[in-house]
Amino acid sequence: MIAFYTVIRISYTPVNSYNILAIGSDFLTSLAVVLIIQYIIEMERQKNILKEEKKREELRSQEEKMNLLGEMAAGLAHEIKNPLTIIQGLIQHSKDNNFNIQPWYDLILSEVKRMNKLTAEFLQFSKPNVSLYQSHSIHECLTRVISLTESRARNLGHQIVYMEYNPHLSIQMDFDKMVQVFFNLINNSIQSMIESGTITIRLLRVDNNAVVEVMDTGIGINKADLKKIFHPFYTTKPDGTGLGLSICQKIIQDHGGTIEAASTLNHGTLFTICFPMNNA
Ligand SMILES: Nc1ncnc2c1ncn2[C@@H]1O[C@H](COP(=O)(O)OP(=O)(O)O)[C@@H](O)[C@H]1O
Ligand SMILES: [Mg+2]
Repeated sequence: MIAFYTVIRISYTPVNSYNILAIGSDFLTSLAVVLIIQYIIEMERQKNILKEEKKREELRSQEEKMNLLGEMAAGLAHEIKNPLTIIQGLIQHSKDNNFNIQPWYDLILSEVKRMNKLTAEFLQFSKPNVSLYQSHSIHECLTRVISLTESRARNLGHQIVYMEYNPHLSIQMDFDKMVQVFFNLINNSIQSMIESGTITIRLLRVDNNAVVEVMDTGIGINKADLKKIFHPFYTTKPDGTGLGLSICQKIIQDHGGTIEAASTLNHGTLFTICFPMNNA
């Protein structure tokens, strides 16, 4: 259109340097205005696409959370059903046949306790996300957990070695939930060490990430089992719930981080937790 208008204008305008300059500058100005408008429209379009993508992403992650929760609820029901059936059978038998269940008291109590623990941990997991994110130092969080676990570790003959290479690493975190993560990991490490052993905790910065390593000299995990440890309800302990690591993983993911495990059977296990620092 601009070119067409310019050609028409040239056809009736006497040719002199002033007119050529005026027509040329009008042509360029109109072209610039059109290009700027087009650029603005394109930017808006890109913004809308991004917004829609973000919305879709949020929906997908919400859906994933609901799926996981459903899976866990099914697992929980399965875990609770067996002990409940056994306890029901015992009480019914005792009622109908005057059967003395006194020798079974301990078993019943321990099963009830386990169910209680399972439901309490499940509630923690399924609690709506009321996280309180604030900038906190990871060092502060680790020292809190170490002070909570150190005396128990020492009583069992273990030592906790803390190597902190960077005291100023802060990220946006829900402090209490993060304490729970490292508490669960150290607890698992303590439980994995039969003889006296060492838990080494390192806090370091790698590129733009804050990295925490929790390493123990415990029994280790074989390759096949290593794939299952983050599954809800996977446990190798008689009184375990199998929820500790899945809760850790969920909290870490909610903080935008990752958790990985590496292990050598009979030598020990290393958990590496990595948080991007861009949200400090
Ligand atoms: N540090 C560790 N050393 C050896 N095995 C571990 C360690 N941490 C976790 N595991 C394995 O992963 C399983 C799942 O751990 P977790 O989810 O905390 O549940 P729980 O502690 O109730 O069993 C444990 O039962 C154990 O077999
Ligand atoms: Mg555990």
